[in-house]
Amino acid sequence: MFSVIQPLRNRQPKIMSSLIQQMRSRFETALTDAFGETVSGTDPLIVNSSNPKFGDYQCNVAMSLTKRLKSNPRQIASTIIEHLQIDDICSPPEIAGPGFINLRLKSEYLETQLNAKLTDPRLGIAPNGNPQNVIVDFSSPNIAKEMHVGHLRSTIIGDCIARILEFEGHQVLRLNHVGDWGTQFGMLITYLQEKYPSALTTADVLDIGDLVEFYRQAKKRFDEDEEFKEASRDQVVRLQSGSEDSRRAWELLCDQSRREFQQIYDRLDIKLTERGESFYNPMLAEVVADLEASGLLVEDQGAKCVFLEGFTNKEGDPLPLIVQKSNGGYNYATTDLAAVRHRINTEGATRLIYVTDAGQANHFAQVWQVARRVRWIPDGVDVVHVPFGLVKGEDGKKLKTRSGETVRLRDLLDEAVKRAQEDLETRLQQEGRAESPEFVHHVAEVVGIDAVKYADLSQNRTSDYIFSFDKMLSLQGNTAPYMLYAYVRIQGISRKGSIDFEQVGDRASIHLQDPSELTLAKHLLQLHEVIDTVAQELLPNRLCQYLFELSQKFNQFYDRCPVLKADECDRASRLALCHLTAETLRLGLSLLGISVLDRM
Ligand code: ARG
Repeated sequence: MFSVIQPLRNRQPKIMSSLIQQMRSRFETALTDAFGETVSGTDPLIVNSSNPKFGDYQCNVAMSLTKRLKSNPRQIASTIIEHLQIDDICSPPEIAGPGFINLRLKSEYLETQLNAKLTDPRLGIAPNGNPQNVIVDFSSPNIAKEMHVGHLRSTIIGDCIARILEFEGHQVLRLNHVGDWGTQFGMLITYLQEKYPSALTTADVLDIGDLVEFYRQAKKRFDEDEEFKEASRDQVVRLQSGSEDSRRAWELLCDQSRREFQQIYDRLDIKLTERGESFYNPMLAEVVADLEASGLLVEDQGAKCVFLEGFTNKEGDPLPLIVQKSNGGYNYATTDLAAVRHRINTEGATRLIYVTDAGQANHFAQVWQVARRVRWIPDGVDVVHVPFGLVKGEDGKKLKTRSGETVRLRDLLDEAVKRAQEDLETRLQQEGRAESPEFVHHVAEVVGIDAVKYADLSQNRTSDYIFSFDKMLSLQGNTAPYMLYAYVRIQGISRKGSIDFEQVGDRASIHLQDPSELTLAKHLLQLHEVIDTVAQELLPNRLCQYLFELSQKFNQFYDRCPVLKADECDRASRLALCHLTAETLRLGLSLLGISVLDRM
């Protein structure tokens, strides 16, 4: 075995902030040293350079200070540079144009940083020094209804956000706010009592497909038949007042759905704590009572509501948020009021993240407005909605099956895996490779699931996207297979040269010569700031874009620079670069919830 690099796993991580963060604090110091307290707290406006010709980063602060300092920006820039201590990181800064300060990283700095990463399982990314209690509310399908692509988006995006925050060192509670309460159970139980009573007393007689179909029929009856409607409402009351057989029926129905959801979660490798709407049911009366005591509650045509600020009807009158209907029933909003209060007061969360389709933006804005007005959301607690757009078919309309029905998630995942397998078999044939059926199945399952996840995460979540199996499974472009292939390529180098990346010894030192090595090195150092950005902006596509560019930059390096055939010294350095790229890809993809393959 060839041995150059120490194993990544057993050494101590170093505490360091991201490169851009380090530069920011150098500039902050320089700014106060140069101009005193007048500029304290000023953001130094450090960004990635728009063009590598000018450097790697640039500081744009000088232009923003001209008024305050009554001086011209080039003068300000030059005064900043006089006070700036950054020569361990960059070559001497240069002033350009109206007063940009251009910064170019030194190769020695890059080399030291990369060598340090090689010995750290977290790749030099220290946990956040200020960990928070975060709740991510995601997935949240509805019992007795099919889990649809919207829930798939929420599941994939929510899981990714949770993984990133966990990696940053935050305490994350992943909550599945399942729709397991409410009028749908009244209809369903009433309907089943008539058509299929055994389903209400015995486990396992239905599967979710039946349940969804029964729900559809029950809903139809509810809308058409007054008597049925009445009976359903009575049933809801019985359930809410704790009648034993209603309760038992409800539990059976929930179990049925739960098992089906769990299969999807297992397949997607998603961990969630179920805490459905029913959990908050015992708190709802108190929520209403407390709103009443606060003086916000108004009775309007028998319903209890809070009039909203900034939400009006066509006539310009304020809209009400109804928290208790005239018949005494509670709403989706009441449950979310109880939930926000519980999450902050009882769970002690300081950041609440809700991942749902963009259509629920108003719902959350209204609930939180009321919660703020009664001080259930104190200052300093961050409550955010993470909205996402629709999944559309290739015809640009809502995704449907050929026969016009909602696509079942199970079918969608099966189809992705089936197509991944077909692609793989064609490729194996072209390459004249023989592989075992186990290999083929495993690779197809991983590629299929990864492709679905990556296709979703790589879009800016706020826009709608077109679901295309062909695109997501392509080996070209910003896709999971492209990324997996880059990783496989690197593992191929280790196989070909009989190099155990984990075992390679400790004389490794990366030295950077070829421009493609420098470009790759700089990109490798940016993972930290990208993760910080995603943790803040909650946009997973930023991480996808980073990894896509990393794969491209690696491929450029690999096309230009021989690795196994290089002389001894270059070979060790380049192997280390390959290894670091693979580890960066693996870590980055794992934060997206995407697993890698050694061969494909
Ligand atoms: N069950 C809801 C739906 O299917 C999503 C719930 C989101 N979370 C919440 N706390 N409201 O649309």
